Amino acid sequence: MPTLLVHPLVVRITHWLNVLAVLMMITSGWQIYNASPLFGFFFPDSVTLGGWLAGGIMWHFAAMWLLVVNGVVYVTYGMVSGHFRRKLLPLTPRAVLHDIGEALRGRLAHENLAVYNAAQRAAYLALILCLALLVASGLAIWKPVQLHPLALLFGDYEGARYVHFFAMSAVAFIVLVHVVMVVLVPRTFPSMFTGRVHEKA
Ligand code: HEM
Repeated sequence: MPTLLVHPLVVRITHWLNVLAVLMMITSGWQIYNASPLFGFFFPDSVTLGGWLAGGIMWHFAAMWLLVVNGVVYVTYGMVSGHFRRKLLPLTPRAVLHDIGEALRGRLAHENLAVYNAAQRAAYLALILCLALLVASGLAIWKPVQLHPLALLFGDYEGARYVHFFAMSAVAFIVLVHVVMVVLVPRTFPSMFTGRVHEKA
């Protein structure tokens, strides 16, 4: 049976490297958070990376390079090749609300794997924007003096910490929903490795 390319190689490689980077960033970030919590709770040691504060910071900075270099490759490819325009646009609030409603009723068909529905488009765009916000607020926390104008965009150093935390929470939530959707529509999973689906899939 003939197959159709639905995920270009660049998208597949950057997607899986990004999964690794985000996993390391979030779990090492929780380790760093535990040293100076913003709220009245800690993350359990079992879900943190690094063992202690300095270990968490080292993992966070190492994974940051992977996240940023990989992200630049993905976003540049997405914009230059027309991938974003073709797969993530157009997007209207009406279509997003409609498709989220259908998904909650269990009625959202994902028959054509070459086309993302509006809920997927919104989720992927939100993930890309939240990751960019995480990098910007992270830079402001890292160098609040040298990058003072950037920190001011978030109010101040403390403001940047809150923005960093809430953007992380948004990424964690959307990724959780994303993975649940993959489990519910398992046909999508192998295509993110092979890039291909059968023409009628
Ligand atoms: C184990 C975790 C994950 C699994 C199993 C997974 C799986 C998938 C699959 C199967 C698709 C294609 C969906 C389709 O064809 O309908 C996809 C697309 C996508 N995923 Fe994930 N994903 C995971 C984690 C993540 C994470 C952590 C992020 C970002 C923070 C992410 C962001 C995206 C984006 C942006 C796309 C669209 C890619 C494009 O076409 O440009 N995923 N994922």
